[in-house]
Amino acid sequence: MHKTILTMALAAFSVPLLLVAQSGNVTLPQDKGPNTINVSTYPPAQQKAYKLFTSKCSKCHTIARPINTTMTLPEWERYVKRMMHKPNSGISDKQGKDIYEFLAYDQVNRKDKNPSAFFKSLSDEEIEKLKAQQQ
Ligand code: HEC
Repeated sequence: MHKTILTMALAAFSVPLLLVAQSGNVTLPQDKGPNTINVSTYPPAQQKAYKLFTSKCSKCHTIARPINTTMTLPEWERYVKRMMHKPNSGISDKQGKDIYEFLAYDQVNRKDKNPSAFFKSLSDEEIEKLKAQQQ
């Protein structure tokens, strides 16, 4: 009996908590940079993938976040998987692969040519610290 009430109370509390956790509800330095990429010189496959990227990767945070983050290609591969596995990401394996291909092309052809214009990805600890400061 008491257990049921406790479970119900926990369920009621965890819904808003989950929503906050999913929204990426913290402003990172890279969120404030430009929110478009000029892909007019990119190969057609990457121009197509750019559309997928902007629609899928702007659901929980600004699209400026990935646009202004610089990483190595293995890090991007891991990062796309991490984003895909977040609850309700709405990104299939095939879409994740296409988005990774786009990010890899963009990394080599745009970000690596001008590294100081972009932000390195933050560690979990750095993100937690920003969250605490912004509350
Ligand atoms: C379901 C919600 C969600 C979706 C969809 C999502 N993200 Fe995220 N993203 C987050 C959250 C939350 C964080 C904050 C860090 C964390 O919790 O992992 C984040 C952080 C980031 C960061 C910051 C990395 C850092 O450490 O500075 C990058 C880059 C990023 N996402 C890229 C992407 C890309 C690329 C996609 C599309 C493939 C994407 N995100 C889709 C929720 C999402």
